[in-house]
Amino acid sequence: MKKVGIIGCGSIGSEIAIAIDARKINAKLVALFDAYQDAVNTLANRLKTKPDVAGNIEEFVRSNMDVVVEAASQGAVRNYARMVLQNNHDLMIMSIGALLEKNICDELASIAEKHDRRIYLPTGAIAGIDAIRSVKHLLKEVTLTTTKNPRGLEGAPFFKTHKVDLKAIKKARVIYEGRAEDAVKLFPANVNVAAALSLAGVGGNKTKVRIIADPKTKVNIHEIHAKGRFGEMHFQVKNVPSPTNPKTSYLAILSAIECLRSICDDRISIGT
Ligand SMILES: NC(=O)c1ccc[n+]([C@@H]2O[C@H](COP(=O)([O-])OP(=O)(O)OC[C@H]3O[C@@H](n4cnc5c(N)ncnc54)[C@H](O)[C@@H]3O)[C@@H](O)[C@H]2O)c1
Repeated sequence: MKKVGIIGCGSIGSEIAIAIDARKINAKLVALFDAYQDAVNTLANRLKTKPDVAGNIEEFVRSNMDVVVEAASQGAVRNYARMVLQNNHDLMIMSIGALLEKNICDELASIAEKHDRRIYLPTGAIAGIDAIRSVKHLLKEVTLTTTKNPRGLEGAPFFKTHKVDLKAIKKARVIYEGRAEDAVKLFPANVNVAAALSLAGVGGNKTKVRIIADPKTKVNIHEIHAKGRFGEMHFQVKNVPSPTNPKTSYLAILSAIECLRSICDDRISIGT
């Protein structure tokens, strides 16, 4: 049975821990870490089988684990991913936006190779990554259009430089149009899907992102349009937000749980 550690005890980390605790994933949860001590304690109190609670990242990476799940933030990927791999743990990354930064993907891949480790990037809150990967070399154009309630966009760094009164928006309005590479920095908690799509397809420089704020929508909508010599693809998902974090789609949590379940269990691998 694989031994799992989780960094980040918010919406995604908590649901994964609860799924392991309920034996929906064939794994043992051995360690938790969060910069916010209350988050770890609240989660640990909800679990029947108590994992170790690490006081700092150095203590956490020394735990006896097979797989570490990062469900914290892009900063956590930047600061801890190398350390996790160097301490001989596989790594599942949720804050995929961090991987569009120059060279980090290649650097992590080379550390993983040196330590014979694997890095897993779950599909997250979208669909179609399997198909995009298959036609990667034939793609001409990939666009992601994300529509969210303005509440789900609050606090994004984009609004420090762009004066937009989200509360005053009365009908659907395009807030951002540009490269995925920039979108993941300006909306780090919202468009991890843009990063997953970029890495699977034509990269963060060529993948286009449009973000729409729509006060009438209660769901997070992600639409992918891809064109190339293979033909054309269109995927749309309408996600209910996580009850504990409106920025995170419920599908992202379910995708993370399924990805970890498959890492821990599958003899037959379904899909590309
Ligand atoms: N891949 C996807 O499709 C997808 C979808 C949704 C969210 N995400 C990303 O997954 C991550 C977790 O999402 P969530 O909804 O659970 O967030 P959340 O805000 O509910 O929880 C994050 C937790 O991580 C902790 N944390 C943040 N930075 C940390 C650090 N540097 N060190 C230690 N702890 C840290 C916070 O204290 C918090 O308890 C976010 O980065 C989010 O953007 C990815």
